[in-house]
Amino acid sequence: MTKVWIMNPQKIEAADSGLQEAARWLREGKRVAFPTETVYGLGADARSAEAVAGIFAAKGRPSDNPLIVHIADRSQLGDLTDADRLDETSRRLMDDFWPGPLTLVLPAKPGAVAANVTAGLPTVAVRMPDHPVALRLIEAAGCPVAAPSANRSGRPSPTRASHVLADLDGLIDGIVDGGPTGVGVESTVVEVVDGVVHVLRPGGVSAEELRRVAGRVEARGELSAALARSGEGGPSSGQLAEEEAAPKSPGMKYAHYAPRGRLTVVSGDSPDRISAWIREQLRKASAEGERTGVLTFEEHCEQYGSEADVVVTAGSLQSPETVARNLYGALRSFDEQNVTVIYAEALEEEGIGLAVMNRLLKAAGHRIKLV
Ligand code: TXA
Ligand code: MG
Repeated sequence: MTKVWIMNPQKIEAADSGLQEAARWLREGKRVAFPTETVYGLGADARSAEAVAGIFAAKGRPSDNPLIVHIADRSQLGDLTDADRLDETSRRLMDDFWPGPLTLVLPAKPGAVAANVTAGLPTVAVRMPDHPVALRLIEAAGCPVAAPSANRSGRPSPTRASHVLADLDGLIDGIVDGGPTGVGVESTVVEVVDGVVHVLRPGGVSAEELRRVAGRVEARGELSAALARSGEGGPSSGQLAEEEAAPKSPGMKYAHYAPRGRLTVVSGDSPDRISAWIREQLRKASAEGERTGVLTFEEHCEQYGSEADVVVTAGSLQSPETVARNLYGALRSFDEQNVTVIYAEALEEEGIGLAVMNRLLKAAGHRIKLV
């Protein structure tokens, strides 16, 4: 049985009995899912190898993919890394973006967290989430909290408690239900090397925002590389780009976020050409007995009404933030409606759009069609 505590993020207080119980469970080595501003995390005491092993087991996560450690206060940083020797750029990023959807990979203090948290790496990924429930819970637990996204490995990340339960009910000890999350895609993971910010995973803080604070920012350019190479689409070209990019953030190499239906991302300069091509595919797929779905935007959703079994609108093209917030729920809704073939329109790779496209392409196993 997985215990559910319901909490209102606007009204949560440290003395809340549910919060105190959830915090105690974390301290006792149990696995407790909780909301952050990005997605729900599956938390455990980062100092306990046994508790952390429970996270990997519940998720079915490969053990070479390290976890992010969550803190509630800058004073906890010194427990994880040598805070006095923190580089100036990392410090500035924390000043500007914490609490918030930015994770920093830092030199780990030996023995600070269990070895399975960092998958044996000499670094530790740290973030301070911007969510009242997460902050209060971590504070009350009194320990650094290791927390990957609270989904079964390979599935879309959870942005609602119901998503967590759909994947992990009975496999974890408890969940704090604090309502839907806000950002919708995970934190941006960065590592500063010689003053240069390397984006290991695009996320809630955009490269443009980082640049305003940190000057030199290098994104891995995974998506652009994949697009440039995939004239005909198909998984092989995209995979090649990914392998060549030699992911520094180990999690980036795994299949992720995938709905059960066969998803293809469709990109190009002309929205009309894109929708015409998708409509043609939908007709063919329907004729072959597939149950079809389209992931589109408010501006285009009327194009597909009669052609697809399920049309999901992620938001307006004018608001990539809304699209990010709705993305994972949209991918899950295709599963809920037993869709077997899905076409998704691409979004501009700007701002948070880069993170959205990164997740979409992974969800599609890098199956992309340029029309
Ligand atoms: O928004 C988020 O970051 C969410 C919420 C729950 O905080 N968490 C999350 O965790 O997305 P997870 O485990 O799904 O993703 C962690 C990412 C992976 O890509 C992993 O490879 C990378 O962070 N990572 C963790 N430790 C690392 C390290 N020491 N060096 C490089 N990458 C690391
Ligand atoms: Mg994840």
